[in-house]
Amino acid sequence: MSSTLDGKSALVTGGAGGFGKACALALARDGAAVTLMGRNAASLAQARAWLLAQAPDARIAVHAGDATADADVQAALASAVAHGGGLDIVVATVGGGGYRTVLEQDLATFMADMQLNVGSAFAAVRHGAPLMRDGGAFVFISSTAAVLSFQGLSSYCAGKAALDHFVRVAADELGSRGIRLNCVRPGLTHTDGMDPFFANPAYVESFKPLIPLGRTGMPVDIAAAVRFLAGPESSWITGQSFAADGGNELRGAPRG
Ligand SMILES: NC(=O)c1ccc[n+]([C@@H]2O[C@H](COP(=O)([O-])OP(=O)(O)OC[C@H]3O[C@@H](n4cnc5c(N)ncnc54)[C@H](OP(=O)(O)O)[C@@H]3O)[C@@H](O)[C@H]2O)c1
Repeated sequence: MSSTLDGKSALVTGGAGGFGKACALALARDGAAVTLMGRNAASLAQARAWLLAQAPDARIAVHAGDATADADVQAALASAVAHGGGLDIVVATVGGGGYRTVLEQDLATFMADMQLNVGSAFAAVRHGAPLMRDGGAFVFISSTAAVLSFQGLSSYCAGKAALDHFVRVAADELGSRGIRLNCVRPGLTHTDGMDPFFANPAYVESFKPLIPLGRTGMPVDIAAAVRFLAGPESSWITGQSFAADGGNELRGAPRG
C-alpha cells in the first residue's frame, strides 16, 4: 500500500529523543526515509532500534552532530540526501534554555539560548533550503513560551519568539520555490528531557488549571501536528506557528 510520504526524504534534528523521535516515527510510518541527528551516537542507535521495533519497514539512518554547528548541520543534511535520495522535509526540534531571572542572566548565557533556539533553525534553513527539492517543508518546534511570559525563562522565550518570526520571513522568501516553513508551539509535554519536571507533582499541577483540555501533552500530540505540517495535507500553509497545548495559551503561564 502506498503512503503519502513515499519517496520523501527527511532530516530530524534532536532525533534521538523527545519530540524528535516521535516526529521521526510519524514520518517513517507514512513512508519517508528518515535521518536522525543528535549529538550522541549511542542514543541515536537506541532511537533507531526503537523506531524499527515500532515500524519494521521504516528506513532510518543516523548522523551524530550538533544542530548549532554549521559544519555538523551541513554534514547531517548531506547524510539525509544520501540516505533518502534527496531532501524534502526538515523537522528541526533542537532548543531549550535554563531557568534564570533577567538579573541572573549575562549576555553570554542569554545569547547561548538564542543560538540554541533560533541559531539552530537558521542553520537548518541556510544549509537545508539549497538542497531541498522544490515543494519541500521545514517544521520547527517552537513553544508556548514564544507568546506567553514564563518568569525565569526570558532568553528561552525570546529565542522561541525569534524563531517564529524568522520562520515567517524565511517562508516569504522561499515560497517561490514552493518550500513551506511552519512552527508548532507545544505546551508542557512529557518528553524524555522533561522527566525531572514530571517527577515533581507540584510543577505539573501548577499547569493543570491553566489547560482547558485538562491534561499535559505527550510527544505523539506534537508529532501529529508536525506530520500534518510536513506533508501534502498542509500544502497551502506556510509561515505559521500553531499551538498544540491543550489550550494553555488561552489561560497563560503559571506564576512564580
Ligand atoms: N517538552 C516540553 O514540554 C516542550 C514544550 C515546548 C517546547 N519544547 C521544545 O521542544 C524541543 C525538544 O524538546 P524535548 O522536550 O523533546 O527535549 P528532549 O526530550 O531533551 O530531546 C531533545 C533531543 O535533542 C537532542 N539534542 C539536544 N541538543 C542538541 C544539539 N545541539 N544538536 C543535536 N541534537 C541535540 C538530544 O539528544 P543529545 O543530547 O544526545 O544530542 C535529545 O535527543 C525543544 O526545542 C524545546 O524547547 C518542549
